[in-house]
Amino acid sequence: MELNKIHNENCLDTMSRMLDDFVDLTVTSPPYDNLREYKGYSFDFENIAKELYRVTKEGGVVVWVVNDATINGSETATSFKQALYFKEIGFKLHDTMIWHKTNAMPNISKKRYTPSFEYMFIFSKGQPKVCNRITENCKYAGKTIQTYTTNKESIMGYKNRKETKKVKPLHNIWSIKVFGTNYGHPAIFPEKLAKDHIISWSNENDLVYDCFMGSGTTAKMCILNNRKYIGSEISKEYVDIANKRLIKYKTQNKLF
Ligand SMILES: C[S@@+](CC[C@H](N)C(=O)[O-])C[C@H]1O[C@@H](n2cnc3c(N)ncnc32)[C@H](O)[C@@H]1O
Repeated sequence: MELNKIHNENCLDTMSRMLDDFVDLTVTSPPYDNLREYKGYSFDFENIAKELYRVTKEGGVVVWVVNDATINGSETATSFKQALYFKEIGFKLHDTMIWHKTNAMPNISKKRYTPSFEYMFIFSKGQPKVCNRITENCKYAGKTIQTYTTNKESIMGYKNRKETKKVKPLHNIWSIKVFGTNYGHPAIFPEKLAKDHIISWSNENDLVYDCFMGSGTTAKMCILNNRKYIGSEISKEYVDIANKRLIKYKTQNKLF
């Protein structure tokens, strides 16, 4: 199977050529309900989920970034239904993470707060074999904080002194701006989002798959972070956009 390539086809066709236990990590974002028009391509969720389970290595992870449409005044909850289906077919729901969009567009509805997040479901086949937690600086790094003990001394007013750690792992809500450039694709996810998941759930030289590659964000972040990738994208127009976006990075990394 050709690596470091976006295959212009239905992802079910790409996966049908993959061996069992082939992929270390999938980072993807499916078509959301009918939120956006994807030129009428069909999306066979249940078979795609089953194939993802088959091709994922033991300990591998699938990151599924998804949102719901609001139809007749009600959110579809498709995201939850999908999450439960992934569990039904054998994945663990390892974490339900949130992408908080720091620059979400204000809602035109007068009866709702501005929707400003998407789910990032982390499914794993068994326990994740890789978890390189990203850290951030502690606000009071290196400063001394006071803690009180519960023994008699504390009642007398004695205090322990402890130095605050320099860094701490991120929380599972990631605040990331919606990406400014869309390369002509209606629904790209931010490069930082793809990069941080790739670093978190895979190691260098691992194989990362994106079954809905769109404008090539996952591929670009794989190249820049020394991971191999395979993509599927059903629309020729989007494959062309992605290839144009990637050519510079593929050339620099001699991936032809
Ligand atoms: C939410 S977009 C992905 C955007 C991508 N994350 C990016 O950053 O550009 C979903 C993509 O899935 C593609 N698609 C829909 N059904 C597909 C299928 N069965 N196989 C492969 N691609 C499909 C659509 O054409 C669309 O580009």
